[in-house]
Formats: sequence, structure tokens, C-alpha cells
Amino acid sequence: MEKERLKTLIESMGSGLLIFGREGTVNLQNGVFEKTFGFSSDSLIGKSIKEIGFPEEIEVLIEDVFLTEKVTERQIRRDESYFNVYGAPVIGRHGNWLGIIIVFHDITKLIRLEEVRKDFVANVSHELRTPITSIKGFTETLLDGAMNEPQLLKDFLEIIQKESDRLDVLIDDLLELSRIEREGFYLHYGSVHISDVIDDAMKIVSGPLDKKGMKIILEGQSRIGVEADKDRLIQVMVNLLINSINYSKEGTTIFITTSQTAKEVIIQVKDEGIGIKQDQLPRLFERFYRVDRGRSRESGGTGLGLAIVKHLIEAHAGKVTVESELGVGTAFTITLPKKAA
Ligand SMILES: Nc1ncnc2c1ncn2[C@@H]1O[C@H](COP(=O)(O)OP(=O)(O)O)[C@@H](O)[C@H]1O
Ligand SMILES: [Mg+2]
Repeated sequence: MEKERLKTLIESMGSGLLIFGREGTVNLQNGVFEKTFGFSSDSLIGKSIKEIGFPEEIEVLIEDVFLTEKVTERQIRRDESYFNVYGAPVIGRHGNWLGIIIVFHDITKLIRLEEVRKDFVANVSHELRTPITSIKGFTETLLDGAMNEPQLLKDFLEIIQKESDRLDVLIDDLLELSRIEREGFYLHYGSVHISDVIDDAMKIVSGPLDKKGMKIILEGQSRIGVEADKDRLIQVMVNLLINSINYSKEGTTIFITTSQTAKEVIIQVKDEGIGIKQDQLPRLFERFYRVDRGRSRESGGTGLGLAIVKHLIEAHAGKVTVESELGVGTAFTITLPKKAA
């Protein structure tokens, strides 16, 4: 029974395991190890370190443990994966040395997360720097004398105001994203009529919509009910509509189509705008990803809108997809479960 138990433990521990006996040959290997390194079942039993043919880093680590009889740990990279390799001597009850144990812990996910985090910090810094450089530059020019010329004074102050507004919006979006991503973020579920969500969102975007001489046409079923967080859905719709307005020519039309299946609600926002190249689509929902940085900035975008949309829809256990054709238009489709999970 003890043996069975130990075997189960070793096989279900989730990390690769290899044990060398005192004489320096393998006397135990588990399934995770075999799978990770592509060895067949028990194929290494009785083999010495040299016979296994490990990458040098691992070989050196194992030899180190044998030589020093001390715990050794090292991070290694193998193709696209990262491992923390932990080696320790196995000491018997009477202090006698029985061999060594090597544990391979897959830390690829952690490393990737860290990369995403580093990228994010770099991106945020870059985004903050642009408006701040501009504010700083114009303030200095004003103080250097430009302030004595009323027209320059006004022009530069307007630029400073515009750039500070940008900072404001950017920081709002960042805080919003961080709130949504935080653990413990929850939705205020209620029964919501999709048409009410669309009405409210349309009211909010009516200013920019009119300014570009654009219109919205509603299609599909009008009274569809769903359990959702109404304010969050409005936020999603506003984000998609503002994008459609920003990335479309004047006088074009946006179509909002709603439909349903037994379990799901489907909302589509389609525009006749500039469209997006096929190869850009997979990255569209990434934080700070923009097809055209200049254009996005010009329209007051932060590059965070779609990241927020994706998070909010996923929080509802729904999904959002995009289809687009360059020069023809773009369609975002949201699918939401009718009942809250
Ligand atoms: N309806 C659309 N038509 C064309 N391009 C779009 C549309 N919606 C989003 N995009 C592209 O996706 C990028 C990311 O969108 P988003 O996250 O909302 O950021 P932004 O603040 O730049 O609008 C935009 O910069 C733009 O290049
Ligand atoms: Mg946007």
C-alpha cells in the first residue's frame, strides 16, 4: 500500500522527477519527466548522467549536486519552455548518502507573465512620455519669452491643455483596466434589455457622430433580454461605436445588429470605415496595440479601448470577435450568455 501511494504521489506531482542512486545511475523517473523530455517509459533506468545526453547546463547541475552534496537550483531554457531545475542530495535516516533527486518545474507561464508585465511598463512609460515632453517643451518656451506674445501664449496654452487632457484620459483608461483585471472585480448583474443599452450608448456618442455627419442604423430583433451589468455593456458599446466613428470617413453609416439563439445574445457593430489588414487582427485586443499610432492619437485614442472591451465581455463569460476588410469596413461581434454564470 505504501508503495502504491508513493507511486501515485510521484506520478501526480506535476513536475518532472528523476532520482539517481548512489552509484550515479537513474533509478526512478516519472511520467511528467518522460513527457517533457520525450523519453519513453523507464528508458533511462540504469543509465549514467553521461549516457542520458542532457543539455550541458543540466548535466553540470547534476554533477554539481553529486560533487558538493548540496542543494542546487538553476533556471534553464529548452526550446520555448523554461524550467526551474532543482537538485538535492538524498540523505538516509542515519545520515548516509543515498543519491540525488532532480525536480524539473515548468515555469514557462510565469516567465511569459513577467514578459507581458515588462512590456506593459515600457508601453505605459512611453505613452506617458509623449504628452509630458510636449507639456514641458511648450511651458519652457512660454517662460523663455513666448508668453509675452498674446497669440503664442494662447496657442501654446491650448496645446498644453490638449496634452493634459490626453494624460487624463490615458490615466483613466489605465486605472479602469487595472480595476477590471484585479481579482475581486465583479459585475453588477441585473436584467437588461439590449435595446436600452444601445439607446444609452447612442446618446453618449451622438456628439461625435453628428460632427462627422454619420448615422447609426439598427437592425434585427429589438427586445432581447439578458442578465448582465448594464453600465458595463454600455461602456463596451460606447468603445466600439467611438472606434467606428474615429476610423470611418464622414457621412458613412454604422450598423448595429442584434439577434439571439436559445442561450445567447449576439450584438454586431459594423462600420464602413478604413478597415484593418488581416494580419493585424490577432493583436487588436492587446493593450496599446494600434494599427496607426498617429491616427489613434489624433482621435484621442489611448490604445486601451479594445483591451477594456475584451476584459468586460470575458467577465460576462462572453466573447468578442472581429472581421475586417481594408478600405471596406470592420465588424465587431459580441456574444453573451443570456443567463449569468
Ligand atoms: N472600427 C474600427 N475600424 C478600423 N480600425 C479600428 C476600429 N476599431 C479599432 N481599430 C484599430 O484598433 C486599434 C485599437 O483600438 P482601441 O483599443 O480602441 O484603441 P484606440 O484608443 O487607438 O482607439 C485602433 O488604434 C485602430 O487602429
Ligand atoms: Mg478606441
